[in-house]
Amino acid sequence: MNSNLAIKLRNGTQKAHTAAENVGFMKCFLKGVVDKACFGRFLGNLYFVYSTLEGEIQRHQNNPLISKFYFPELNRQANLEQDMEYYYGKDWRQKITPSPAAQKFVARIREISATEPILLLGHAYTRYMGDLSGGQMLQKIAQSSLKLDGYTGTSFYNFEQIPDKKTFKDKYRQALDSIPVDDATADKIVAEANSSFAFNMQMAQELEGNLIQSIGQALFNSLTQGYNPGSTELVSH
Ligand code: HEM
Repeated sequence: MNSNLAIKLRNGTQKAHTAAENVGFMKCFLKGVVDKACFGRFLGNLYFVYSTLEGEIQRHQNNPLISKFYFPELNRQANLEQDMEYYYGKDWRQKITPSPAAQKFVARIREISATEPILLLGHAYTRYMGDLSGGQMLQKIAQSSLKLDGYTGTSFYNFEQIPDKKTFKDKYRQALDSIPVDDATADKIVAEANSSFAFNMQMAQELEGNLIQSIGQALFNSLTQGYNPGSTELVSH
């Protein structure tokens, strides 16, 4: 059985992807305008999101549907912990708190994990496929803009166990297609992926205030004007 989940997810989230790339914080980031404090906060929120998501997926790993998209080599929690130590020091656990959007995101992951765990796929897809794609570009930009050494401070983007991203993404898409879900469930997973995009956008938007303070409103406006076509609309696979 081929559920066509991979293509349903890509097509069904294309607009959301374009919108995510057009958030001011992301547009500035792509142009190399990002400051260390903002980036540390950005990763700090992701620490809360990934530790929750990965804990919940692991909890359901013996569920035959969840096991199909459980790839421990994707796990980001340990890498984010390294980054947290870099930005906040040894006592980082006492220093970071999730932003309001991150709290809502975490609450949603817990809710679906308790009620309809297959929907966790919407979040796993949105985050991990993104990290293996645009995330790799963002790593290079962060490394050069923040003058970081290797993966120090960008360990989040370092998939040590996945040297060949393209081959892995193909394998992941095949795994998605092999999950036997009916059309109604597939639609719910796509809807959940869209809400995952929305949470991610809100977390990026929350950081704009800090970025504007550090670079000034005029520069922010000039860097973020216009609406660009999205990367997943341009590429063919
Ligand atoms: C802001 C800068 C971003 C850039 C430049 C970017 C770029 C890209 C590119 C080029 C691809 C296609 C690569 C491929 O399939 O091999 C892609 C795919 C993807 N991106 Fe992004 N992205 C960005 C932000 C995001 C964000 C914020 C998310 C979600 C949190 C995201 C989620 C995804 C997903 C899920 C895919 C896989 C699409 C598919 O099913 O093929 N991206 N991205």
